[in-house]
Amino acid sequence: MAAAAAAAPPFAAGDSPPPTALLLPRTTTTTAGAAPAPRRSSASSRLHLLLTAALAVATSYLLLILPRTPLSAAPAPAAAARAQVKLEKPVVILISSDGFRFGYQHKAATPHIHRLIGNGTSAATGLVPIFPTLTFPNHYSIATGLYPSSHGIINNYFPDPISGDYFTMSSHEPKWWLGEPLWVTAADQGIQAATYFWPGSEVKKGSWDCPDKYCRHYNGSVPFEERVDAILGYFDLPSDEMPQFLTLYFEDPDHQGHQVGPDDPAITEAVVRIDEMIGRLIAGLEERGVFEDVNVILVGDHGMVGTCDKKLVFLDELAPWIKLEEDWVLSMTPLLAIRPPDDMSLPDVVAKMNEGLGSGKVENGEYLRMYLKEDLPSRLHYADSYRIPPIIGLPEEGYKVEMKRSDKNECGGAHGYDNAFFSMRTIFIAHGPRFEGGRVVPSFENVEIYNVIASILNLEPAPNNAPPSVEEPQMNSMRFCIQEHCQLELRGQNYFIAEFCDNVAVCQEEQVYCNQLQELPADYSVGNNSQN
Ligand SMILES: *[C@@H]1O[C@H](CO)[C@@H](O)[C@H](O)[C@H]1NC(C)=O
Ligand SMILES: *[C@@H]1O[C@H](CO)[C@@H](O)[C@H](O)[C@H]1NC(C)=O
Ligand SMILES: *[C@@H]1O[C@H](CO)[C@@H](O)[C@H](O)[C@H]1NC(C)=O
Ligand SMILES: [Zn+2]
Ligand SMILES: [Zn+2]
Repeated sequence: MAAAAAAAPPFAAGDSPPPTALLLPRTTTTTAGAAPAPRRSSASSRLHLLLTAALAVATSYLLLILPRTPLSAAPAPAAAARAQVKLEKPVVILISSDGFRFGYQHKAATPHIHRLIGNGTSAATGLVPIFPTLTFPNHYSIATGLYPSSHGIINNYFPDPISGDYFTMSSHEPKWWLGEPLWVTAADQGIQAATYFWPGSEVKKGSWDCPDKYCRHYNGSVPFEERVDAILGYFDLPSDEMPQFLTLYFEDPDHQGHQVGPDDPAITEAVVRIDEMIGRLIAGLEERGVFEDVNVILVGDHGMVGTCDKKLVFLDELAPWIKLEEDWVLSMTPLLAIRPPDDMSLPDVVAKMNEGLGSGKVENGEYLRMYLKEDLPSRLHYADSYRIPPIIGLPEEGYKVEMKRSDKNECGGAHGYDNAFFSMRTIFIAHGPRFEGGRVVPSFENVEIYNVIASILNLEPAPNNAPPSVEEPQMNSMRFCIQEHCQLELRGQNYFIAEFCDNVAVCQEEQVYCNQLQELPADYSVGNNSQN
């Protein structure tokens, strides 16, 4: 077995990481139908490690944050994965609530979501989206375990620089959609999938041909209730027709977030409505006696940040340094993507733009920075695809880029920014026989989800970008993000950041800690960061 502790290698075809039980209890009772032994390796992945360590971590948090809290307030020891009672095979329902920023679950009473959290496993400070923090790239990363440079959906819309064809959110030709999404992995291995909307699910690929009975064509007018009821209807089918992997998609609260920003009461209403849909799903599964047998994974694709502060950068103010033509700009904001004509020097364009932006003469220029894509921070994984335009601009959180000044209403919400911004985080909440109850794990990137679901369904995963595995001997070492910069607060049995961490500097610092995954001494306790 190759040493797995090396830095994550870039994705390469045939480079299959070990199948992982990332978020799953380390020793699981197999659900009905014995799991095939993983072909490549039995080593557990990093996330598996995180989950295994999570209980200990949670306990440490408790002890250190609230030293006087009686231990009885600590989460009960996580139960081992449960055996299924009624269903013969493992089942996963993957639900996306678009633009569900981490923290929205505390904006209003969300009893159903909190039931999943309380009796399930969730990411303490949210799920980290991939860059760019946009809907299609993220949904397809969740489905494939790949970064956009590998799965090909590098934006919600983009031209192919070779063919000149244009990708839009209704392009279903297989040529755009690289990699292997879960419904294809399932179909290829003889497992029935059903998709009630998911970007890429209508694309015919491998053994998946988007069959009428199991694959819905996107129609945003279908009421949420109808979507939930259709998912429930699959559980009335005979066992051999019942899908084992199902997707369910809601456009909210992204829709409201764009219109009014993340702090408006309309968001609270939208969140309550999503909670009602989760309640409807739980009730329907309970009626059928299968709720405890089904693994429900609730995620979002990205967060949302308010843009009502006139944080605008106008590209035409760069004219004294470089005159940008509109047709060079393939995407404007928050992801600024530029492809100048072939006869121009790319480094020259970047240098002139940055010179203008840093001159003090362009309004808010200091809040936008241009990069050759290969010079972007490597943690963004946004370079290795011919589809990614050669010049990328990263605005600071909440800033918008426009060609020129106009009088349109600029107040609302946006996403697409650097995924290090805390406002871009979304939720990961998982409940079911393969997830331990009351478990809170550190944040992780959504490319790890593919392996988790493949593992639950006993599928051999396709090669993907989830981090490499950690060797067994490290399994017991406790690692986790030190959250010393963001106030953690205990409410009931769940930890969360008491307030939205809107201070960019603080949250970036936190991100650095998370990326470094500090190794902690055995006697380390949260709140005692002196490290002697
Ligand atoms: C966990 O499940 C039990 C039984 O299903 C339920 O009574 C309890 O309210 C749930 N816990 C939370 C925190 O919702
Ligand atoms: C979309 O869904 C709505 C509501 O269910 C329905 O009335 C409409 O006919 C659907 N549109 C298409 C093109 O199927
Ligand atoms: C912090 O840890 C050190 C050694 O690990 C210990 O001596 C000290 O008492 C701890 N302080 C607190 C406040 O727990
Ligand atoms: Zn979205
Ligand atoms: Zn959106």
